[in-house]
Amino acid sequence: MSHFTYKDGALFAENVALRDIAQQFGTPAYVYSKAAFTDNFSAYANACAENRRGDAGALVCYSVKSNSNLAVLNLLSRLGSGFDIVSGGELQRVIAAGGDPRKVIFSGVGKSAEEMRLALAHDILCFNVESVGELHRLNDVAGDVGKQAPVSLRVNPNVDAKTHPYISTGLKENKFGIDFDEAMAAYQLAASLPHLKVVGIDCHIGSQLLDDAPLLEALDKVIELIDRLAAEGIHLHHLDIGGGIGITYANEKPVPIGDYLARLFRKVDQWRAAKHNGAPIQVMFEPGRSIAGNAGILLTEVQYLKHGSTKNFAIVDAAMNDLMRPAMYEAWHGVQPVLQRTGSTKIYDVVGPVCESGDWLARQRELAIEQGDLLAIMSAGAYGMTMASNYNTRGRAVEVMVDGDRVHLIRRREAATELYALESVLP
Ligand code: LLP
Repeated sequence: MSHFTYKDGALFAENVALRDIAQQFGTPAYVYSKAAFTDNFSAYANACAENRRGDAGALVCYSVKSNSNLAVLNLLSRLGSGFDIVSGGELQRVIAAGGDPRKVIFSGVGKSAEEMRLALAHDILCFNVESVGELHRLNDVAGDVGKQAPVSLRVNPNVDAKTHPYISTGLKENKFGIDFDEAMAAYQLAASLPHLKVVGIDCHIGSQLLDDAPLLEALDKVIELIDRLAAEGIHLHHLDIGGGIGITYANEKPVPIGDYLARLFRKVDQWRAAKHNGAPIQVMFEPGRSIAGNAGILLTEVQYLKHGSTKNFAIVDAAMNDLMRPAMYEAWHGVQPVLQRTGSTKIYDVVGPVCESGDWLARQRELAIEQGDLLAIMSAGAYGMTMASNYNTRGRAVEVMVDGDRVHLIRRREAATELYALESVLP
């Protein structure tokens, strides 16, 4: 169920009219729905519970990079979420938001020694290690600080996620993970290093997957590797299948989370019963988009309408610096008028004020709009604000979260002076 719906021709976030939010906070504005975040997280949590997985049996580690606002992290932490991070900065955010570092897993191909030290100091749950070089560095850093680092190896199962090439990560040609053929040797090395403790295995094959078949195929490969490792005396405590389930931007039909998890747990249960006397293994997930994507919209105001001989443009006050996805992936986001008009429609490209031809948010959309109207760019809750920049010295948008009939400011708009506050001129 969407929490962004029309009531008498006006678009609402839960029980608050978007028009009122624009009036109070200005535009562009990211508007999130607390209920949507809660529902989306609960889809995972409930599916884990329905498949008889308590905390020890399954852990959902929300992928912080998709939307890292402290209010979002705090909400998810209160719902019981763990976190998948990719930088020391994200770890600091999780802690600032009240998240539990012992439920944090640290992914990413380029962890620095400093980031490793920070994560070890906070006793995170696990490092998802992506190369042999990283194993050596982590072993050294852990030795320095007198700890044993818990590690999982991110393996690359060479499965085609059948998604956009920029967000596909599980193929041999991607920079991510350790090649499947080299995984055994890497595990043997990890097991031999004194300051590492091998605890798990993980993979993440891509993002915006609509079908779970590639994920279940990756699971089969991971299972087979876990058995080969066990035969060599390397026993794992958890398996992490990554994130990746997609959302509806236009009319995509992603697999329901409950169906995917039921199929996955069934496979795991059958395998554990057949090969491990039913001994459990903890299963982890790293979802981002499926939790945040449809929990937020980008609210923007039409500044000018430009009617040309071949094209009409709606120039709005949000731009590629606020929402990079269209410019970067030619991503399609729905555009909904905040007040529905009954006038005649025209076909518009919705573009921003940034000086780049790539600065568009939507193309060829049929809209009945006038200057000053508000538009909602839909499905912008994931990889929206987190990918925003200050290009053209544009302050990043305000962020608010709606909870029922209340609106909470969760990040104020950046002022221009703040954008150059860290800079200095030559003496
Ligand atoms: N785990 C790892 C290791 C990841 O690299 C990612 C996303 C996730 C989990 C979460 O995946 P999700 O459940 O959100 O699909 N900026 C792109 C998406 C990049 C995804 C990067 N990795 C976009 O806007 O479509």
